[in-house]
Amino acid sequence: MPAQDTRRFVIRDRNWHPKALTPDYKTSNARSPRQALVSIPQSISETTGPNFSHLGFGEHDHDLLLNFDHGGLPIGERIIVAGRVVDQFGRPVPHTLVEMWQANAGGRYRHKNDRYLAPLDPNFGGVGRCLTNRDGDYSFRTIKPGPYPWRNGPNDWRPAHIHVSISGPAIATKLITQLYFEGDPLIPLCPIVKSIANAQAVEQLIAKLDMSNANPMDCLAYRFDIVLRGQRHTHFEHR
Ligand SMILES: [Fe+2]
Repeated sequence: MPAQDTRRFVIRDRNWHPKALTPDYKTSNARSPRQALVSIPQSISETTGPNFSHLGFGEHDHDLLLNFDHGGLPIGERIIVAGRVVDQFGRPVPHTLVEMWQANAGGRYRHKNDRYLAPLDPNFGGVGRCLTNRDGDYSFRTIKPGPYPWRNGPNDWRPAHIHVSISGPAIATKLITQLYFEGDPLIPLCPIVKSIANAQAVEQLIAKLDMSNANPMDCLAYRFDIVLRGQRHTHFEHR
């Protein structure tokens, strides 16, 4: 592979990202800026890195099949979600914090504001975290979340998805995105997904079935790689 100039500044491709105001995604009406954006220079507090190694990780923090055990296993399809966090030049981002949260198999979050009629699962909390290893790899074990309806259009449903937060190498690189699952027919119908015009950018948000990482008679596996910054990085919600 040819050596890359990693000092090169890579300009963000604005066409890769959805427009801030996408009226079919109703929340964007209130959230999008009314005035021109202002560029704020970064200082050392944004560009220096946090060290997560002091965090006290529990044995099952990355394993949502076990980390909310109340006397049984959660209901749903058992899956592994794994991938690699890399920067815009393809270099692994090691020892960074990856957090995820999701609905249960019925599409219900364990959150006081979630009133969806699907029941809570007594053995599923829906929250996990881990650090990437030296090669930037992360891995979770969980159940596949269910789709759920939301108050947007008259009959809008979110595709099955997992929310993912990646802290990256510095404070300013913390990013949040959503992971979808290959083959889900709800993906092209979702008003949030449809706010992303570029088909390739949508494709980067879809985890692919990865039989090479599946455990026979136990778990299927999906692969989801994450690219921080640069022209072709994973779409993040608050950028
Ligand atoms: Fe969600």
